[in-house]
Amino acid sequence: MAGTIYVLNGPNLNLLGTREPEIYGSQTLDDIAALLDDRAREMGLAIELRQSNHEGHLVDWLHEAQAEGAAGVILNAGALTHTSVALHDAVKAIQTPVIEVHLSNPHAREAFRHHSFISAVARGVICGLGARGYLLALEALAHG
Ligand code: DQA
Repeated sequence: MAGTIYVLNGPNLNLLGTREPEIYGSQTLDDIAALLDDRAREMGLAIELRQSNHEGHLVDWLHEAQAEGAAGVILNAGALTHTSVALHDAVKAIQTPVIEVHLSNPHAREAFRHHSFISAVARGVICGLGARGYLLALEALAHG
């Protein structure tokens, strides 16, 4: 739907709140959804937040975002960021703007997190700012 922002979350992000809170913070994905909902409503937008541990679901949802005429996608692909050519291709295949978000700063972590298959095809990248990164991505998409 026009005016809807898809917020797509990849593997292990269902465990936010208890998963390595010193890295990812103590907020759950539901907490982040509530923050986004409030802010989106103020801006006259709607949020469609989803999470899956399966790569193909994320590919399908990127296609769906375009088919539904979404205003944009906020994508935290989790570890698939660093491995998935399929997600790279899916982001490239759609015209819907996609902003890549990470709670942590992958560049300050293990070398295997330094490469992203998403960044080259994303409208922008926000990382290292915790849950606030999702809100900043929402602001960016709301302003085109
Ligand atoms: C993450 C960073 C990834 O390297 C990691 O695999 C995740 C979460 C983040 O939000 O900081 O699952 O995308």
